[in-house]
Amino acid sequence: MFTSQYLELFLTLETHPDRTLINAMIESPVPESELSLSPHAQVQTGDGSTLNVRAAGITGLGFYVPERVLTNDDLQRLGVDTNDEWIRSRTGIRERHIAADTETTADLAENAARRALEDAGLTPASIDLIIVATCTPDYQFPSTASLLQNRLGASCAAFDLGAACSGWVYGLVVAQQFVATGAAKTVLVVGAEAMSRILDWNDRSTAVLFGDGAGAAVVQAVQSGYGVLGFDLGSDGSGGELLKVVIDGEPASSGLVFPPADGHAAGAPPAEAPADQSTLDGASAGAVSTTPSLAPRRKIYQNGREVYRFAVNVMGESALRALTNCGVDPHNVNLFVPHQANVRIIDAAAKRLGLTSDRVFVNVDKYGNTSAASVAIALCEARDQGRIRAGDVIVTVGFGAGLTWASAVLRWGGQKSNAQ
Ligand code: ACO
Repeated sequence: MFTSQYLELFLTLETHPDRTLINAMIESPVPESELSLSPHAQVQTGDGSTLNVRAAGITGLGFYVPERVLTNDDLQRLGVDTNDEWIRSRTGIRERHIAADTETTADLAENAARRALEDAGLTPASIDLIIVATCTPDYQFPSTASLLQNRLGASCAAFDLGAACSGWVYGLVVAQQFVATGAAKTVLVVGAEAMSRILDWNDRSTAVLFGDGAGAAVVQAVQSGYGVLGFDLGSDGSGGELLKVVIDGEPASSGLVFPPADGHAAGAPPAEAPADQSTLDGASAGAVSTTPSLAPRRKIYQNGREVYRFAVNVMGESALRALTNCGVDPHNVNLFVPHQANVRIIDAAAKRLGLTSDRVFVNVDKYGNTSAASVAIALCEARDQGRIRAGDVIVTVGFGAGLTWASAVLRWGGQKSNAQ
């Protein structure tokens, strides 16, 4: 119908001085599908009503880990007061990958992102938004997402997301929202970490747990009934002290990046050059960076027992909430792809969900805890190993510093042609 609104628009166009632009607009009108939200999926809103949105899911995956492998035995050989038996029995970790001295989080992210784009059959020109989840960015600013956007030659929005180990699942849900509303067609969600840069190799309680790596996913509209079906995001900042980055040599430091003026000048150069970040000098494997830094060295502090207690509860509970939100029974879950921090935590969560080990994906043995990268790496590796088939229901869960948690339920497949 030719409403008064259209008449107004028509008159504006008719009197517009730039006729070339207007003719082009009239000759190549925006396709109907781009003008309106197609009712591909219905979501429940907070007030109980329903909303028609596009279904959004993963159409490409890729991951990258640095070449350098550090086994538990290597750690012991290099002087860390630990042993393979302790690490394996308490965490399930056998080895982890460590970034080369010249490699940064942006390098890891770029490798994973290129693989995910290739997997989706896309070029960087298609990306509307890049989200990089990381707690080890190259710089405070610019964001690692902006560095990645430039390296890929993409022309799009980009930002970093900080939710520690929950970051990639948070990012997946944010990407889903952009695609669901039609605000973006293609979102690249990367989880990338150079955790070795914030490890204190003298602290055996944390040094053995983490590794470096990156995982990436392309999120686009998919067929109705596929993609992200439900999610659960949460935060309990009262537990922030249990897991944080502090300043080396100052156990009581707040770790504040910008402390109050009369506080410790975290950003100022110290009076003396700090000790090397590692006591592993002369180590044959050259497994850790020994480059001295003028900046105060930051390192992870963790109350392992309390974080363990939190993780065991939150993993199962958050996954159950996400399943409830989309009305999927836990018995119908084909594969549980949790954050890879500790195999004991994963086992406890799987038990809470009533899942047998054949429906749980574990690769913490090979990579350790890669923080925000872990779920994306696990999802990609599970898919590559043939553990995920079209139509499968997948549950991903992350947890970490904040304290934060994030779960997403996906039905795999339903890809549309990228030409659409
Ligand atoms: N090698 C050998 N012995 C060790 C090591 C080590 N690497 N680390 C600690 N120990 C010793 C301790 O000194 C202690 O010895 P003691 O009994 O003589 O005092 C003993 O082992 C037991 O230590 P606990 O800390 O009680 O060991 P626990 O069984 O709790 O396991 C662990 C520690 C693996 C860290 C566990 O608490 C855990 O997994 N917690 C959760 C970690 C996690 O998932 N973090 C998420 C991070 S996500 C993010 O956002 C960054």
